[in-house]
Amino acid sequence: MNNNNNIEILMEEVNPVYMTAQRCLQIIAELGDDDSRQLCRVLGLPTLEESFKGSDRLPEPVAETLKLTMPVFNAIPEARFIASTNLILSSAAKQVVDLPCGYTSRGIKLQKSNIRYFGFDLPAVTSVVGNAVKEIIGENNSIKYCPVDATNYNSLRQALGDIRGELYITTEGMLMYFTQNELETVFGNIRRLLSEFGGKWITMDSELDTAQKKIMSIITGSLPKDRAEQVKSIVSDYAGKVSKTTLLNNRFYDPDQEKVKRFVSDMGFDLEMIPMKQYMPESVYSLNELSADARQKALEVLGEVNFWVMTAKQKTREESAHNDNKFIAHAKMSGDTLNLTVSGRLDTITAPELLSLYKESAARNKITAICVDMNGLEYISSAGLRVLLIMRKSVDDGAGFSLINMNKAVRDIMETTGFDTIMC
Ligand SMILES: C[S@@+](CC[C@H](N)C(=O)[O-])C[C@H]1O[C@@H](n2cnc3c(N)ncnc32)[C@H](O)[C@@H]1O
Repeated sequence: MNNNNNIEILMEEVNPVYMTAQRCLQIIAELGDDDSRQLCRVLGLPTLEESFKGSDRLPEPVAETLKLTMPVFNAIPEARFIASTNLILSSAAKQVVDLPCGYTSRGIKLQKSNIRYFGFDLPAVTSVVGNAVKEIIGENNSIKYCPVDATNYNSLRQALGDIRGELYITTEGMLMYFTQNELETVFGNIRRLLSEFGGKWITMDSELDTAQKKIMSIITGSLPKDRAEQVKSIVSDYAGKVSKTTLLNNRFYDPDQEKVKRFVSDMGFDLEMIPMKQYMPESVYSLNELSADARQKALEVLGEVNFWVMTAKQKTREESAHNDNKFIAHAKMSGDTLNLTVSGRLDTITAPELLSLYKESAARNKITAICVDMNGLEYISSAGLRVLLIMRKSVDDGAGFSLINMNKAVRDIMETTGFDTIMC
């Protein structure tokens, strides 16, 4: 395929960037961390205080209520960033894969301790944060930011290149974005990496979800009833937005921890729990605005959380047959109709290829209809769906657009996301 299109522009067109990731950096900057402050400055991000001043235009009671929700949203990213960084620094880890890295300053910190750092995230994030870090510390062989999609094994494996040695993979704030199907793919991908390289996968995400709910009820319990209701409504509005698109059937977030542990075992991992308490900072800045009693209770909740340390079970290490699900797309004109065939995985990493193929065809031909043959397409993510939408819009308001030979897995994704009503 001819790659004449600017790949970065295509990536931007198909990648959503999660703004919550920038919030994590802003929180750590706010508590006085120099590396994070520098990164915020280079990225042009305001401090949390400045962001909040932006809400001066809001009527005073709304601005006040918004401020009250901040500990609910901020305490978890703050505690997990500091505790995980402390855990890594006190371990024997030599190579850390931060999946997803977001915008945090962890890479800058770890390279100071001679730990090799791989920041893995969606392309739209790694290109920005990678350039900013380079501006701060210059060229450095110990830090690499790599565009990946956690659901795409090839993108993960290629990013590691020909390195050797155990991996210490950390995951904070990502697994909740996946459907059960995607979650299983990600577990399979990470197990496969650990089977090849050895090492551990560490996350607190499952327990932190429950902790966040408990902190929320401590905070609302310490407020007058009307304020508590306002806080609940802001938080549930936000949670609703996240869960509508993502939390469907995600078994890593089952409130029954025993079920989650069984899921982890079924996915081929041995599990060890390490209490987060010993790696926590003495105080959590984001809880400072709370009453002494509420602050103490919230700290106790965070202190009960565990790191989940997962290693690939021996049996799965011996597995060798794998299906790489490579993405392949072909285009052929028939009269004014563009016939596309797609197979494999159409996701964040591969969607720009399809967009580029379409744009090249559109630049050379008059296209009045598009037919996409999905025979062989095994998976489609929101980035892939977005490319289909772009193509659909281009032909006579969708009238000349058709999808054929869709398998059940892809149809299920279409139905879950509501795209079936637009496209099929
Ligand atoms: C809440 S942020 C957390 C980032 C970082 N770990 C932190 O604590 O600041 C979630 C991150 O997940 C990334 N993400 C979402 N889906 C992803 C995927 N399929 N593959 C890789 N990263 C993904 C987003 O781009 C975003 O940077």
